[in-house]
Amino acid sequence: MIQNKRILITGGTGSLGRELARRLHTDNHIVVYSRNEERQYLMKQEFPKDHMSFFIGDVRDTETLEYALHGCDIAIHGAAMKDLIMCEDQPTQTILNNIEGSRSFIQAVRRTPTVKRACAVSTDKAASPSNVYGCSKYIMEQLFREANRTSPCIFFSVRFGNMIDSTGSLISYWKQHPNTDIKLTHPEVARFFFRLKDGADTVTKAIEIAEGGEILIRKMKQARIHDILRIITGREKFEIIGLFPGEKIHEELMSANEAAYGFDIGDYYVIRPGVINPAPLSVLSTETAPPFTENELRELLDVPLAG
Ligand SMILES: NC(=O)c1ccc[n+]([C@@H]2O[C@H](COP(=O)([O-])OP(=O)(O)OC[C@H]3O[C@@H](n4cnc5c(N)ncnc54)[C@H](OP(=O)(O)O)[C@@H]3O)[C@@H](O)[C@H]2O)c1
Repeated sequence: MIQNKRILITGGTGSLGRELARRLHTDNHIVVYSRNEERQYLMKQEFPKDHMSFFIGDVRDTETLEYALHGCDIAIHGAAMKDLIMCEDQPTQTILNNIEGSRSFIQAVRRTPTVKRACAVSTDKAASPSNVYGCSKYIMEQLFREANRTSPCIFFSVRFGNMIDSTGSLISYWKQHPNTDIKLTHPEVARFFFRLKDGADTVTKAIEIAEGGEILIRKMKQARIHDILRIITGREKFEIIGLFPGEKIHEELMSANEAAYGFDIGDYYVIRPGVINPAPLSVLSTETAPPFTENELRELLDVPLAG
């Protein structure tokens, strides 16, 4: 249980940030840190004033972030550019946001001795990265690992699959527009999926158990995008347009290299850099991981069950 803590969330107005705030604000004080005024205004309407503080700022602005962190016990770094195509098109902005922003976050945390735990929110695309977004998140994880070695604060990361109910999810768009001309990049493309609440569970679990430097990954099932489209639209055939630059057919939860340091701890895997597992895990990819059953997938997509 996380209680009586002051918790700063960068990207606090995002899908995950709001879910974490909903989860944690009753027993803690939440500090939301992000750039857009309107999103903060809307969030203020949803939450009781005395449990929340709001700061406008960019994660790259170390000074303002340090000011917002004053007196915090826990810091969660969720702010990022996360759209694969946008990141591929604009590597410079991705580097500034996801890498320079993370470096700045770490620096601000280092200057705030009350912060005892700092969590980075990463993605499965950081495992064997093939695109700018995945590379930027891989580097963020490494920055957190390094920070953990050189600071009294415990720094760690969590790695997510696709949060089906997050903003900007293509699946939400398809659900709202099932009769449009939906195109598929490759018939076998598959992804790990979970819900926002599972993302928030993973962050809170990591805050509770992290020892420092590790990456915590929730066990997730996988689904082919083709099956998702079939369920949403009721159609079988989609025009195939080829993979986007940097897009993979299969994602991995951990790479072959990382699997040597991977441990199975029940509902989660944990990568402990430098701690070799004598019984190493195999590579966990959407090619080999258990799939959702038809009805599990329908439930996840919130559409009527089959049969
Ligand atoms: N959604 C997914 O399926 C998924 C999957 C894997 C990993 N993740 C990771 O989970 C984290 C949260 O994802 P999400 O879906 O909640 O994202 P989101 O809804 O797009 O929210 C992103 C948040 O970050 C803030 N932000 C972005 N750049 C910023 C900057 N330079 N300075 C300050 N704030 C900034 C945004 O607010 P402003 O624009 O107002 O600043 C917003 O509050 C991200 O790190 C993402 O990479 C998400």
